[in-house]
Amino acid sequence: MHIQNLSTQPFDGQKPGTSGLRKQVQVFQQAHYLENFVQSIFDTLEGYQGQTLVLGGDGRFYNVPAIQTILKMAAANGFGRVLVGQQGLLSTPAVSAIIRKYKAFGGIVLSASHNPGGSDGDFGIKYNIDNGGPAPEKMTDAIYAHTQTISRYKIVEAADVDLTQTGTTQIAEMKVEVIDAVDDYAELMESLFDFGRIQQMFKSGAFRMQFDAMHAITGPYAKAILEDRLHAVGMLQNCVPLEDFGGGHPDPNLTYAKDLVDVMYGSHAPQLGAASDGDGDRNMILGSHFFVTPSDSLAVLAANAHLVPGYKQGLAGIARSMPTSGAADRVAEALGIDCYETPTGWKFFGNLLDAGKVTLCGEESFGTGSHHVREKDGLWAVLFWLNILAVRQQSVAQILREHWARFGRNFYSRYDYEGVPADAANVLMDTLRGQFDALPGRRFGDHEIEFSDDFSYTDSIDGSLSEKQGIRIGFVGGSRVVFRLSGTGTAGATLRVYLESFEADASKHDQDAQVALADLIKIADDLAGIQRHTGRDKPTVIT
Ligand code: G1P
Ligand code: ZN
Repeated sequence: MHIQNLSTQPFDGQKPGTSGLRKQVQVFQQAHYLENFVQSIFDTLEGYQGQTLVLGGDGRFYNVPAIQTILKMAAANGFGRVLVGQQGLLSTPAVSAIIRKYKAFGGIVLSASHNPGGSDGDFGIKYNIDNGGPAPEKMTDAIYAHTQTISRYKIVEAADVDLTQTGTTQIAEMKVEVIDAVDDYAELMESLFDFGRIQQMFKSGAFRMQFDAMHAITGPYAKAILEDRLHAVGMLQNCVPLEDFGGGHPDPNLTYAKDLVDVMYGSHAPQLGAASDGDGDRNMILGSHFFVTPSDSLAVLAANAHLVPGYKQGLAGIARSMPTSGAADRVAEALGIDCYETPTGWKFFGNLLDAGKVTLCGEESFGTGSHHVREKDGLWAVLFWLNILAVRQQSVAQILREHWARFGRNFYSRYDYEGVPADAANVLMDTLRGQFDALPGRRFGDHEIEFSDDFSYTDSIDGSLSEKQGIRIGFVGGSRVVFRLSGTGTAGATLRVYLESFEADASKHDQDAQVALADLIKIADDLAGIQRHTGRDKPTVIT
């Protein structure tokens, strides 16, 4: 077979963001656009000749054509073997699990996560390293630098691989193994959780759940694990992955997972509601008429980990992203273990997990995970909850109320202002930065500002420094507002405002979070001039 060495020219803006390179589909469809980025990944790697690459995506529009191209490029560049998911499907956590299980050199995930799909939607590509986790910033910077000077890429002229059946074929010297998308992942889940006990709970008929795959990648995983293995029969919805996710935003939150929210707040609501996102790494947990914030979910998993077989030996430590609430910190304190605060993005957890310093990690953005892989993991979180519910035999609401009574409650909410002009968003952030010296001591009603800063983080393992990771305004008594610009959007800017206040008094725990946070919400707008800068009088999404 013939290896072509084609000439090309750099594209502007192939800079990976919080989680890989994400652009509108039309951008990726430009001739050589995908190829330039893939060649830049390969050229940044060392020592992959003859090695194994894992490849799969969330099934969105352009998934299969991209996979066919990448297979031919991997062969031309000298990979020895590619493990590719059947139909081109693999969830992000499954890629991570497969890289680790088969000791692959790395993996490529095709996904724009929770961004909408379809021919007018978004597409994305990210590279994961041999620990199964996202490429660190040093590597994504090097890939980006390469995209700016690239002049050639290599590809084999070959027929497309049949992805519909599992089995082994060959492109030039490279082996292509089309693997079942679910098997390896399901086996890993079975090693962590008490499947027998969860199955018993479903079989008893007294327990029901509703899982919403949002027409995205977790459909086949949920069917194989929840329905076939655990007997959650008739409790799954939207389980067929669609190229456009049925026209929805595959983002499990109270706004976009509306079908599920309607069921969970309706009459006859089941005991547990859960949803996952486009590529299967996010999760939302609901009880009957009850929403569990992702920050609380992390804290509850940590406090109950001893009930779950895979974690009963104890936790080494916990890590959470900076904007995530401090709920997990107090659990860590009670357990006598360390809690680390990292910048937003899963890649910052990798070193801590590899060094054995933490077992559980979480982000407020519906992401939770553990040392079993190096990505956040949506279905894993659902199974963790199921295991806890099977042991404790209480409702989700009861578990949360007891948790708050013991540890106190962090009221929490995130306001997103999507599609704001980038200039206006940058001016807002810079104006806030300009006030840092004057803010401490300033009072807003009962609230007095204690500190304001730009979060920066030094990785304790490799010493790397990440600056400007979000503006923090802290108040006396522990309330907090954080301002950050998203690093995953594809159009304009998204301003995220994170609000948090702590309440130790159990008689006040039943308040609605929006009510409890009302003062802070007003202060956030006064401080940052959100309406003045963006013209928006309300956020697009509240979580
Ligand atoms: C968002 C979330 C972040 C998460 C990332 C990838 O990034 O806020 O926690 O790790 O998606 O799922 P952002 O758009 O805020 O940069
Ligand atoms: Zn995702």
